[in-house]
Amino acid sequence: MKYVFSWILGLVLISACGGMKPKTYEVKSPEGHTRVGFSLDAKGRPYYMAWFNDQLVADTSLLGFELNEAAPLQNDFEVLNSTESSFDETWEQPWGEQQFIRNHYKELKVSLQEKQALKRKLDIVFRVYDDGIGFRYEFPEQENLKHIEILEELTEFNLAGDYTSWWIPALEREQYEYLFQRTPSSKIGLAHTPVTFSTEKDIYLSIHEAALKNYSSMMLDGKEGPRLKCSLVPYSTTEKSKAFLSTPGTTPWRTIQLADKPGDLITSYLILNLNEPNQLGDVSWVKPCKYIGIWWEMHIGLGTWSSGELHSANTANTKKYIDFAAENGFDGVLVEGWNTGWDGDWVKHGGDFNFTQTAPDFDLAALSAYAKSKGVYLIGHHETGGNIDNYERQMQDAYQQMEKYGIKAVKTGYVEHGSILSNGKYHHGQAYIDHFRKVIQLAAQHKIAVVAHEPIKDTGERRTFPNMVSREGARGQEYNAWSADGGNPPEHETILPFTRCLSGPMDFTPGAFDITIPGKPDNQVNTTLAKQLALYVTIYSPVQMACDLPAHYEKYADAFSFIKEVGVDWETTKVLGGKIGEFVSIARKEKGSGDWFVGAITNEQPRTLDLKLDFLDAGQSYTAKIYRDGKDADYKTNPESYEIETVTVTSKSTINAKLAPGGGIAVSIFKVKS
Ligand code: NOJ
Repeated sequence: MKYVFSWILGLVLISACGGMKPKTYEVKSPEGHTRVGFSLDAKGRPYYMAWFNDQLVADTSLLGFELNEAAPLQNDFEVLNSTESSFDETWEQPWGEQQFIRNHYKELKVSLQEKQALKRKLDIVFRVYDDGIGFRYEFPEQENLKHIEILEELTEFNLAGDYTSWWIPALEREQYEYLFQRTPSSKIGLAHTPVTFSTEKDIYLSIHEAALKNYSSMMLDGKEGPRLKCSLVPYSTTEKSKAFLSTPGTTPWRTIQLADKPGDLITSYLILNLNEPNQLGDVSWVKPCKYIGIWWEMHIGLGTWSSGELHSANTANTKKYIDFAAENGFDGVLVEGWNTGWDGDWVKHGGDFNFTQTAPDFDLAALSAYAKSKGVYLIGHHETGGNIDNYERQMQDAYQQMEKYGIKAVKTGYVEHGSILSNGKYHHGQAYIDHFRKVIQLAAQHKIAVVAHEPIKDTGERRTFPNMVSREGARGQEYNAWSADGGNPPEHETILPFTRCLSGPMDFTPGAFDITIPGKPDNQVNTTLAKQLALYVTIYSPVQMACDLPAHYEKYADAFSFIKEVGVDWETTKVLGGKIGEFVSIARKEKGSGDWFVGAITNEQPRTLDLKLDFLDAGQSYTAKIYRDGKDADYKTNPESYEIETVTVTSKSTINAKLAPGGGIAVSIFKVKS
C-alpha cells in the first residue's frame, strides 16, 4: 500500500519566540521512535538534531557547503517553504537477505534561500524512519547557481556523547582493508563509512550514505573530537574541488541508522530504501550462486597468476575445477590469471592488463564450451591494478567477449597501494564513482553480474542495479593466507556484520578447510573449521565462494556437505543475538524451500549460546544437521576438530551451542516433508 500526502508549512512548530528566533521544524518517524529537528541559527545557518526513543543522539549539527570561487552555501538563509509527506510501500527484492522490504517514512522538505546577495536556493530533505534517518541536499534549477564545484561538504554529525565506535581509517594505503579500531568517537581520525557507534544507554548507530552517484564518497572526520564532520574524498591530485554538480541536482543521502539492539542494525534496510527502484526491468538472469575458483592456491603460494611453470589458470587445471564444480553442485568457476598483464609487479603496472587476450596456456573457447557441457559457467576476472582508464578503453570488447563465452559474472579488482590511483584520481573520488556506475551499466547490457574487489563502498546500488551483486570492501579471507600481521584475528568476523556488512553483501570468500596452511609457517586461518561454515550464514552475500582447494574439501567431505546445502537466497533473516566484536548468531530462511540455516560465531573467547529455534513454523518437524566445534577444538591448537550430529527439532527446541575459542556452529534445518 502506498500513500503520499503533503501540505505547505504544515509542520509542528516547537518554538516561535515572538517571531525573532527561527522556527524549529520537527518530524517524527511513523511509530515515533526517531525524531529530527531542523532550524536555522542566528547566522542563518541550517542545522539538524536527532533523537532515538527520546534520547538525543545528534546535537546541533550544521549543514552546508564550501564552494570553489564562490561564497559558501551555508549562511544567511531563510526558510521559504516546507512540506511534510508520508510514504509507505512494500517492495520485493529479486534476490536478497529479505524478500519483502517495507519502505515507511515521514519526509520533511525545507526550501531555503539566501536573504541577501545571490539569493541562491538550497533544499534539504529529511526522511525519518523508525530505524533511522536519511537526509540529502537538493539544488533546484536557478539563475545564480548553475554549476557547483564543492570544496567541502560541511555536514556535521555532532554526536550527543563520546560514543564507543568501530571504524577503519580512510585515505590510507590499503583502502578499506584494515582491522576495525574500537575507540571513543572523540578518537576517530579520518574514517571510511559505515562507522558504527554504541551509546551508554544501549543505542546503536551507524553513519553511512545511500545512493552514492555523481558525487564523491563521504568520510567522517573526527579530528576535532565528537563533532564529526563530513569530509569528501578528493577528486584528483590536480583538482582543488572535490565534487562537481549542476543544477538541478542532489547529493547522496547521509544516513544514521538507529537501533536499540546491535542486531537490529543488521536487519535495517534503510540504505536500500533510500535507493531508486530497479532500473533494469526483468533481472531473472541475475541468479544467486555458489562458486569455486582458481584463487586460494595462488594466495597460499601453490600457484601463480603470472606465466611460468606454476601458472594456475591453465586449461588442464581449469578443467579439474569445472569437474569438481559440476560434481558438487556449484554454479560458477572463477579463474584468476586467465589473461595477460600479470608478469612483473602488476600492482604498479595496471596499464599492462589486457582484458580480452588469454594467457597462452588458457583456452577460453574450449573451456567455456566444456563448462557449458557440464552445466556450469566460468566467472571472469578483471584485475585493473587501479588503472581505470586502461580498463575503460577495453571494457566494451571485454564484456562482449564474456557474453560470447557464456560468462555470467565478473570479479573486478582495483588493487592499488596508496590513497591515490595510478592515474592521479582518488580511489572513492567522483571519477571513480562514475567509473563504477559505467561498469555496472555495461555489465547489465551484457547480462553479467558484478562482484567487485577493492570496490567503492556499497551504498545500496543493488536495489537500482540488481546485477551489482557483491563486493569485498574489507579485509577478507585472503588476509589469513599472507598478511604479515598474522591475518584476521578471530574477533574480525564478529565485527564485520555490524560494520562493513551494513552497507551491503560482502564477498568474504569463506570455506577454508585446510586451516593451518602447510608451506606458510607464519600464517593460518584464525578460526575453527566449524566457524568457516558458520560464515556462510553470518556474512550475507548472494554469491558465495567455497575458497579452498578441491583436495581439501575431499579430505573433509562430511563438513563440505554444509557448503553444498546452505542457501544463498533468503526469504527472511533473523538475528538471534550478538555483541559487536564478541559474537553473532543469525538464522536465515531459504527462499522457496522453507529450510532454515543458522550460523553463530565467537571471537577468541569460548562461549555457550542457547539458540532458540522459535522462528520455525509451529507444529512442523524439521531435521537439523548440526556442524559444531569438537570438544577439543581451538582455533590456535586444534582448528580442524568438529562434530556433526543430526536431530529432529521443532519451534520449541533449543540448540545448546558450545563455541570453541575462535569457533562457530552451523546448522541446516530441513523441513520434514509430510
Ligand atoms: C585482491 C583480491 O581481493 C583478490 O581476491 C584477488 O585474488 C587479487 N586481488 C588479485 O586480483
